[in-house]
Amino acid sequence: MWPALRLVRRQLSTAAPRGLVYEKHGEPSQVLRLKNIEVPSPTNYEVRVKMLAAPINPSDLNMVQGTYALLPQLPAVGGNEGVGVVAEVANHVSSVRPGDWVIPADAGLGTWCTEGLFSEEALVRVPSDISVVGAATLSVNPCTAYRLLSDYETLRPGDTVIQNASNSSVGQAVIQIAASLGITTINVVRDRPNLQSLVERLRDLGADHVITEEQLRKPEMKDLFKNYPRPRLALNCVGGKSTTEMLRHLDYGGTMVTYGGMAKQPVTIPVVSIGYSINE
Ligand SMILES: NC(=O)c1ccc[n+]([C@@H]2O[C@H](COP(=O)([O-])OP(=O)(O)OC[C@H]3O[C@@H](n4cnc5c(N)ncnc54)[C@H](OP(=O)(O)O)[C@@H]3O)[C@@H](O)[C@H]2O)c1
Repeated sequence: MWPALRLVRRQLSTAAPRGLVYEKHGEPSQVLRLKNIEVPSPTNYEVRVKMLAAPINPSDLNMVQGTYALLPQLPAVGGNEGVGVVAEVANHVSSVRPGDWVIPADAGLGTWCTEGLFSEEALVRVPSDISVVGAATLSVNPCTAYRLLSDYETLRPGDTVIQNASNSSVGQAVIQIAASLGITTINVVRDRPNLQSLVERLRDLGADHVITEEQLRKPEMKDLFKNYPRPRLALNCVGGKSTTEMLRHLDYGGTMVTYGGMAKQPVTIPVVSIGYSINE
C-alpha cells in the first residue's frame, strides 16, 4: 500500500468521533460547528454506530433554523437520516450485532456525525447489500412518496397523478412508485438552461410527462387530457402560483395534498376548485 494511503487509513480509524453540532438555532452556515464528540462504550441496550453516509434534507435545515415542528434539546448533532454500521453492542442488545447496517427508527437521532451511541430501539437493521446512498436515504422521502400515493386516493392503473417539484427526492420516488403501479404521472419542474437533460433523467425513472411551470399555465394543457384522465391526486411541494395552476387541472372530487412549501408562499385556491378535497 502507498505510505500516504496507509497514513490516511490509520488516521481515519483512530480519529476522534466528530459531529456537526449546533448550540443555538439559526442559519446552518452560522450555527453549525464541526466538533469532537464523546462516544463512550455502550452499556445495557446501547449500540455504538460508525456512520457511513447521511443526507441533508430540507427538514434537517429547518430543524437547525428552529422553524420545524419537532426540535431537539440543545446542544444537538444535526441530521435525521443516514446509515451506519454497528461497531459495538452492549450486553442486553439482541436485535443487531457488529457489522449490521442500521438506519434511524425515527427523526431526531443526530446523524451528521462520524460515530454515535444510540439506544437499540432507535435503530432499524437494513440489508447491507443495497447501495450506501440508497440505505442512507431510505426512510424519509421514499416512504413519504409511498404514503402520498396510497393514503389519500385509491389509485388504479391508468389513473393520473400531477405533482410539482417533480425533480425533488420525494418527486423522483413518486415517479418510480407510480410507474411500477401503472399510474400516469404529470411532472411539473422549474425551467432551467439544461431542461432537456432533466426531462430525460425523469423519463428514465418512469415519468410519463415532464412540463415546466410555464407550460402548466398554457391552454394546450387541455390537449393532454384528451388522452389521459384528469388527475385524481395532485401533490404539492411548492405553494404559490405553482399550486394554484396545478389545482386547475385536478379532476372533480380529486384530492390535493400539500407536503412541502419550497416557494415559501401561501397556497391560494381558485374559487372554481372549492369543494375539492385539500389535505395538508
Ligand atoms: N410532510 C412530510 O412528511 C415530508 C417528508 C419528506 C419531505 N417533505 C418536504 O418535501 C419537500 C421536498 O423535500 P425533498 O427532500 O424531496 O427536497 P429536495 O430533494 O431538496 O428538492 C427540493 C425541490 O424543491 C424545488 N424548489 C426549491 N425552491 C423552490 C421554489 N422557490 N419554487 C419552486 N420549487 C422550488 C427544487 O426545484 P429546483 O430543482 O427547480 O430548485 C426541488 O425540486 C420539503 O419541503 C420537505 O420538507 C415533507
